[in-house]
Amino acid sequence: MRAGRWIGAAGAGVMALAAGDLWAQEATKSVWDGVYTEAQAERGQTAYGQNCANCHGQQLAGTGEAKPLAGPEFLSNWSGLTMADLFDRTRTTMPLDRPATLTRDAYADVLAYVLKFNGFPAGGSELARRSEMLATIRIEAEKPAAATGAGVPAAANEPVAAAPNSQPNPYVADAGFFKLPAGRTMGSSSAVAVDSRGHIWIAERCGANNCAGSALDPILEFDAKGNFIKAFGAGMLLFPHGMFIDAHDHIWVTDGHSEPGKGAQVFEFDISGKVLRTLGKAGVSVEGPDTFAEPNAVVVATNGTIFVSDGHTPGKGPARIVKFDASGKFLKQWGERGAAPGQLEVPHTIALDSRGRLFVGDRWNNRISIFDQDGKFLEAWSQFGRPSGVFIDRNDTLYVADSESREPQGYGYHPGWKRGIRIGSARTGAVAAYIPDSEGSPDKTATSGAEGIWADSRGVVYGAQVLQKAVVRYVRK
Ligand code: HEC
Repeated sequence: MRAGRWIGAAGAGVMALAAGDLWAQEATKSVWDGVYTEAQAERGQTAYGQNCANCHGQQLAGTGEAKPLAGPEFLSNWSGLTMADLFDRTRTTMPLDRPATLTRDAYADVLAYVLKFNGFPAGGSELARRSEMLATIRIEAEKPAAATGAGVPAAANEPVAAAPNSQPNPYVADAGFFKLPAGRTMGSSSAVAVDSRGHIWIAERCGANNCAGSALDPILEFDAKGNFIKAFGAGMLLFPHGMFIDAHDHIWVTDGHSEPGKGAQVFEFDISGKVLRTLGKAGVSVEGPDTFAEPNAVVVATNGTIFVSDGHTPGKGPARIVKFDASGKFLKQWGERGAAPGQLEVPHTIALDSRGRLFVGDRWNNRISIFDQDGKFLEAWSQFGRPSGVFIDRNDTLYVADSESREPQGYGYHPGWKRGIRIGSARTGAVAAYIPDSEGSPDKTATSGAEGIWADSRGVVYGAQVLQKAVVRYVRK
C-alpha cells in the first residue's frame, strides 16, 4: 500500500516537472541497455551489505515488512517507472531507520547492485547519481523483444510485460500414448528425449522413484506411435536424472545418486543399449575433474563437446558446469555457489541454443542463467519460471518445465508463479505459451508435473513427471 501511494505521488511529481527543461527528455533507454558498470555493482554490493541487508536480506529476498528488492514482485512494482523514481524513493526513505544518510554515489552504487542482482546487464558507463539523468532510464521487467534502432525511443516499441501464467495454452494432453509391456508400470521420470527417427526414449526410476535393488530396465524406447520397442540398463543406474540425445542418436543419461560401486556417473549408450562410454567414477560422489557429486544433466554440442551440470543439493557440494572435449577429456569447470548474477545454486538442467549458448536452469534461484561455452556469464532470465527442465529445439524454441513454484514460504517459494511448461524464444526471451500443471493444489507437494522436457521436430512436447510417475505427451489443439 505504502509503495503504491508513493508511486502515485512520484507520478504526479514527474508530471509537474515534465514541462521543465530537465524533464523535457523522456526515458530513451531501459535497464536492459547496460546502464551501470560491474565495478559499480561491486561497490554497491558492499554498501548494500552495510546498509540494507539487515532488513532486505543477503539475497534481496526481503524479510518481514522489508520487501524483496529482486524477483517478479519487485520488478512488477517498478516496471514502467524510471530509475529516477527508484532512486528518489530509496534515497528519501531508506534505510528506513535513517533515510538519506548515504551519499548520492552510494545510493547509485546500491541500485547498480540491485540491477545486477535482478539480471540486468552491465555496460560501459556508471549509473548516474542525478535524478534527471536517471529519468532517462526506464525500468522494464521483460527484455524488449526487438532491438531499438538508433535514436528511436525505447518506449516506441515497448514489449507487453506479460504476467506470469498468463500466456495461452495451445496444447492438449494425449493420454494413454505410451503402451508399456504387460505388468510394467512407469516410474518417476525427469528424463525424456526423442531421437532422429522420432522414437521416444524415457529414463524412469524402475516403476518407483529409485532403481536401487531393482532388476527392471529403466531406459525405455518407444516408436513414434508410442509402441514399446525395448528397454535396457537394469542394475546399471540408481536414479536416472538427466537425458540427452546427441547428433549421432547416442543416448546420454546421468545418474544422480550413488552407493558403493554404483552411481554418480554419466552414461553414453548407442541405440542398441551398448555402453559406449562413461564419465565419472562409479560410486565416487565427489567434485573432481573426473568425478561428479550429483550429475543432474548432460548436453553435447554438435562438435562433441560435453557439458555436465553437477550438484542437486542447495547449500551443499558443487553447483558447477563441467566441460569435456569430444574425447571426454576434462577441459574446465565453472560455477560459484550463490544467487548473484552468474552464480549458481542448483544447476538442475542444461541446454544449448543454435548460437552455442549454454542455458543452465538454476532451479533454486528461479532462473535460467546463460553462459558462453567458456563459462562467461551472459544474462539471466526469470520469465520462464523455476526451471527443473530446459530444452531448446533447432529453431531456438525454448521449452521450460517448472515443477516446483509454490506460494508458501519455504522450499520452492516463488510467489505469483504457477507450475507448468512455458514455451518461448531462446533468442528474444519472450514467453509465448504456458501449459499449466494438471495438479489442482500444487502447494501440497514439493514437485508436481513435468521435470524433464523435450519437443520433437513437429513441436510435440513431452513432459517427464516425478510425482505422477508418467510421461505426458502434449499435441497442438
Ligand atoms: C531498518 C530496515 C530497513 C533498512 C535498513 C532498509 N530498508 Fe528498504 N524497506 C524497509 C521496509 C520495512 C520497506 C517496506 C515499507 C516501505 O515501503 O517503506 C522497505 C522498502 C524498500 C523499497 C521499496 C520496495 C518496493 O518495491 O516497494 C526499496 C526500493 C528499498 N526499501 C530499498 C532499500 C535500500 C536500497 C536500502 C539500503 C540503502 C534499504 N532499503 C534499507 C526496511 C528497510
